[in-house]
Amino acid sequence: MSLVCLADFQALARERLSKSSWDYIDGGAGDGITRDDNVAAFKKIRLRPRYLKDMSKVDIRTTIQGQEVSAPICISPTGFHCLAWPDGEMSTARAAQAADVCYVTSTYASCTLEDIVTTAPRGLRWFQLYVLPDRELNKQLIRRVESLGFKALVITVDVPTLGNRRHDIRNQLDLKSNLLLKNLRSPKEGNIMPNLQMTPIDPSISWNDLSWFQSITQLPIILKGILTKEDAELAVKHNVHGIIVSNHGGRQLDEVSASIDALPEVVAAVKGRVEVYVDGGIRSGNDVLKALALGAKCVFVGRPILWGLACQGEHGVEEVLNILKNEFRTSMTLTGCRSVSEINRDLIQFSRL
Ligand code: FNR
Ligand code: LAC
Repeated sequence: MSLVCLADFQALARERLSKSSWDYIDGGAGDGITRDDNVAAFKKIRLRPRYLKDMSKVDIRTTIQGQEVSAPICISPTGFHCLAWPDGEMSTARAAQAADVCYVTSTYASCTLEDIVTTAPRGLRWFQLYVLPDRELNKQLIRRVESLGFKALVITVDVPTLGNRRHDIRNQLDLKSNLLLKNLRSPKEGNIMPNLQMTPIDPSISWNDLSWFQSITQLPIILKGILTKEDAELAVKHNVHGIIVSNHGGRQLDEVSASIDALPEVVAAVKGRVEVYVDGGIRSGNDVLKALALGAKCVFVGRPILWGLACQGEHGVEEVLNILKNEFRTSMTLTGCRSVSEINRDLIQFSRL
């Protein structure tokens, strides 16, 4: 079967993965309302193309936090890539480097950060931190990440407790028995990570803790999981460098807005003071265009990367990224956008929003 769009990868990944791995990757929290809405909300938005603009040259490059990427399409942090492919995050890192996009590596990576960096030394990477209850452990992890050349710290804020994932409970998913969480081994105690049902993410973290992180690292701090203007305002007030509008792919609190629907509110509150990104439900070049038209500087993709991995490892991830990039170039060309700076709200038909 030839794989020409992300849905093709999705269908093949489903065949290739075990039921429990597929359910873990695919699933949402609760009734899956938000997970499905993330995709459906993009499909309600209609475009307003402009023509006769000399589209012989179209440049899809952009920058995030001052660093150039080949397209405004980067990789969201997702855990446990070894579930999808033996080489796990190492394959993802090589594909990201080849595609010249940013790969946000998860705290729950199933390869060591050292192996990820060694296998793709030139790739742009950010590190996604799940704040752990032990301050010292956070500090050690951040030191390690800094010395390995990660360029930003993405703190995920939407997991004070794990969302209710019925499929994982039914499947008795136990990631601990399958995978060692190699990045969280404390030198003294060995592997400290229990299974996902007993997540050790610190539920006490609050706005006041951000200054502690800022005091121990020079890396730009980006908050992932913001959905409201109130929190966006607080984020800017606390001097973060960026916001990822996200509902964790509908895996945390069910029945929140689709991320593309939450984006305009956050963009309006931030007023250009920091970069705003979005993830959740991005499956085509038109989706990327719509997100940028509504004010995102860049989008991130989660599940499609794991589909690529499950189908063809590193090559599959590269293909997923190439398909999205090519579709996005076509979307720009057909709407009259020669560079990403020309993408704006006039591309969106508001009566249909
Ligand atoms: C995630 N996500 C996630 N987020 C995060 O901050 N740290 C993590 O370790 C993980 N792990 C994770 C595992 C799996 C299997 C999935 C599907 C998702 C959420 C992820 O970063 C992102 O917000 C969503 O996946 C985006 O939605 P789409 O692109 O999957 O629709
Ligand atoms: C998840 C956690 C690991 O969404 O973020 O599965």
